[in-house]
Amino acid sequence: MPHSSQLQSFMSSHQQRVNLALENCLQSMPCPDPKLGKAMFYSLTGDGKRIRPILVYAAGIATGSSETVLDRPACAVEMIHAFSLIHDDLPAMDDDDLRRGRATCHKAFDEATAILAGDALQSLAFEILSNGNTDLSCKQSLKMIAQLAKATGAQGMTGGQAIDLAAVGNHLSLQQLEAMHNLKTGALIRASVLLGGLCNPEITDTELNMLDQYALCIGLCFQIQDDILDVISDTETLGKTQGSDQERDKPTYPTILGLEAAKQLAQEQHDLAIEHLAPLGEKADTLRLIADYILERNF
Ligand code: IPE
Ligand code: IPE
Ligand code: MG
Ligand code: MG
Ligand code: MG
Repeated sequence: MPHSSQLQSFMSSHQQRVNLALENCLQSMPCPDPKLGKAMFYSLTGDGKRIRPILVYAAGIATGSSETVLDRPACAVEMIHAFSLIHDDLPAMDDDDLRRGRATCHKAFDEATAILAGDALQSLAFEILSNGNTDLSCKQSLKMIAQLAKATGAQGMTGGQAIDLAAVGNHLSLQQLEAMHNLKTGALIRASVLLGGLCNPEITDTELNMLDQYALCIGLCFQIQDDILDVISDTETLGKTQGSDQERDKPTYPTILGLEAAKQLAQEQHDLAIEHLAPLGEKADTLRLIADYILERNF
């Protein structure tokens, strides 16, 4: 993959870091029902890119926080993401059988267990944000919880998923498509970057606003690239079924704009994201490399 060795090493060390933190978290809060516990573990520890936790770490480090204080928000955003994927794959939604190179949760277990595993991972995210981190004040924790709740709910990912489902087989304008992507995918990516920033109690509104503008652009870029990869990649590389959007007649950037214009728009969002980081100087270099990665990734 054409991204710098500097980013490669940041990503792999922070993937390992968050994976360990996620496993520790599940082990420290054992589930009374073994099947539910296994399904939660299965979906949370699957082989994902961990881009949202990586954004928490990169934004947090760029704005002066320690890695230790970033572990809990990093776990929380990945838990919400895992919940969203489990439900996204259900027969009532995208009806997909393959995720991260193996059976989707409802295929490996059953539908009821998958619904419950999603529910439980969602509440676990808020549980870990609300307890045990002595490095964060109550005020900071509350701000982070509010941010993540909004990004997850009807005004964020869940609302975006509802629009996505209602759009199956229908035409969307470019503006409607952008609004849908900003909610279903952008909201959690924005929350990831903002939670990283909020770990520093001294962060200014100006800095938070810059991070937010950056995150809005990379969030859209991320979902445009996801739509593009559904067309141009293959099932083995993606670890999920290629062509799933076309199969379900989903409006996407390639269907509405064409492949080349979709690629150009992803590039534009990437460039805008980088522009928003200018005032942060060198300390935002990892965030810049992540924007490159989001544009260039092939799975
Ligand atoms: C897939 O997200 C769902 C979208 C929002 C496009 P990712 O591409 O981050 O999936 P994993 O976590 O790496 O499997
Ligand atoms: C997923 O969008 C958005 C969420 C899971 C919230 P997609 O439906 O395009 O994601 P994939 O392609 O199944 O990973
Ligand atoms: Mg979907
Ligand atoms: Mg899907
Ligand atoms: Mg997709």
